[in-house]
Amino acid sequence: MCGIIGYSGSFCAQKILLDGLEQLEYRGYDSAGVALLDDQGELFLQKKAGRVSVLRKACEAAPVKSRCGIGHTRWATHGGVTDANAHPHSCGQVTLIHNGIIENYHEITAAFGFQDRLHSETDTEVAACLLDHLYRGNPFETLKKAVDILVGSYAFCILFKDRPGQIFCIRNVSPLVAAQGEAGSFVASDLTALIAHSRSYFVVPEKTVMTLSADRITLLDLNGQTMEPECLTVDWNVESAQKGGYPHFMIKEINEQPQAMENTVRPRLFNGLPDFREEGVEDSLFLDCETITIVACGTAMYAGMVGKAIIEQILHIPVAVHIASEFRYDTPLINEKTLTIVISQSGETIDTLAALRLAKECGSRTLAIVNVKGSTIARESDYVLYTHAGPEIAVASTKAYIVQLAVLYLLTGRIALLRGIFTEKQAKEFMDTLLSASSSIAQVIQKDEAIKKAVKAVKHSDHAFFIGRGLDYAFSLEGALKLKEISYIHAEAYAAGELKHGTIALIEKNTPVIALATQEKIFAKTISNIREVRARGASVILIVKENAQVDPDVYDIRIDLPVRQDEFAVFTAAATLQLLAYYTSDAKGLNVDKPRNLAKSVTVE
Ligand code: AGP
Repeated sequence: MCGIIGYSGSFCAQKILLDGLEQLEYRGYDSAGVALLDDQGELFLQKKAGRVSVLRKACEAAPVKSRCGIGHTRWATHGGVTDANAHPHSCGQVTLIHNGIIENYHEITAAFGFQDRLHSETDTEVAACLLDHLYRGNPFETLKKAVDILVGSYAFCILFKDRPGQIFCIRNVSPLVAAQGEAGSFVASDLTALIAHSRSYFVVPEKTVMTLSADRITLLDLNGQTMEPECLTVDWNVESAQKGGYPHFMIKEINEQPQAMENTVRPRLFNGLPDFREEGVEDSLFLDCETITIVACGTAMYAGMVGKAIIEQILHIPVAVHIASEFRYDTPLINEKTLTIVISQSGETIDTLAALRLAKECGSRTLAIVNVKGSTIARESDYVLYTHAGPEIAVASTKAYIVQLAVLYLLTGRIALLRGIFTEKQAKEFMDTLLSASSSIAQVIQKDEAIKKAVKAVKHSDHAFFIGRGLDYAFSLEGALKLKEISYIHAEAYAAGELKHGTIALIEKNTPVIALATQEKIFAKTISNIREVRARGASVILIVKENAQVDPDVYDIRIDLPVRQDEFAVFTAAATLQLLAYYTSDAKGLNVDKPRNLAKSVTVE
């Protein structure tokens, strides 16, 4: 998703903006640009399709002395990847950058007759023309009028030519954070671009006009009332957002998983028992609910699928998992007796945020499982349980997924205890096994020879299938997503027993089938499904518990998982399939951390 950075201060803005854009590259983008306003009000604009390095080269060829400017990485929504469509966009007195979608930009163009003023295909340029059209020398009044006309999501950073040294910002749904550092005032899409300059920051409140000057930041609500922001402190350091000697962020983050689990689970154990009351999550939330709805996107939604399997298996509470982009336009069958859990690493995914808002309108109490502190979803939920994975930079989510699972298992343990399903002893054993999963993950990461062998069986294929039953099926969905999103191999997850109802027609000689068989009670059934695909020539990569007795004729490659209890196999299976995807992508020479077309946080519909 688009990356935004703005700076006004006493240092060279061009360097600060370019360095900041490099920190935002992980969000996913296809073009980049900067706009600089010097003290005389002269504007310098440089924007290019391609990487930030291309932009940097162009800027260094024509350095600009300016201490105020805005920078942007664009993830194309309206219009192709061209220099003209790259941000910033200028119109008359106004130059701006934008993250979000202006849904009524065609209507605005027609209503104000902007057709002849446009040089790009973007909704953003229309917004620049509108602001210029409304501008009579007062930025606040201009933005106040514009907000009444614009429909959609936006985070704008705006330069007015006659306001050198100042940046004006306003947001609706799309994220913006700001900080006052020694070097001046900063605004960005997320903390990774700010952390080098300040450890205290604030989330820009929606529909407020924020003005950045070299020595101060002011906030006015739309009634012109001054607002004081809620200051937060960054809870991770710059090194966390660097590669730390690893070749890619993704492999670093896979290796961070044991520690991320420790950081997420242990602070919530009191005398070995799970408890969230110190975080303001009261037990009544769990005792009063009759059903649970889980809403998320992508990997987070697949974590919800595992959550559904384990909660229903242990608690016998009905759980419905919904894709957020579907849920938000559905007629959700939820009410005050429903606990809605929204899961999001970034806490900014617009579909998940919209689903959260809809769930609240339906009277459901909402609990967010979020990794980014102070993010929009975290702030708008009734309750939040933060995961403590630290910044996740690779687009492909790994450690965030593992700790999302960990919180769902913690919740299961707490609810089982509260509802008398677990005795204290059983709850402690459940938590102890959860904690032991982090060391089992470390074992898998160290012992990855069999995984590397499996890569050879997969990397030249166009298709791959992941099959399993029960928890193995719930998890295989995430395994398939990991492989396809970073290796570009078409991968599909299937309930093992369902394959013969059509999809088995696609199995032919050497088709890779990654088969998960970690659940004892359905092991024999899964093995018979594996025999069915093997009989049709599939190349089977079998993932089972260590010491499982399996006929060698059933598989080509066997990967053994250290598993203490079947219900916890998902943790080591996750690390295994993350590594399979990672090594496959790397073997294919692909951009593991920034796969094509993808963004880290999807803040547009
Ligand atoms: C996962 O590898 C992807 N990056 C993507 O599916 C992601 O999980 C999804 O966009 C949800 O993001 P969120 O957790 O930040 O809401």
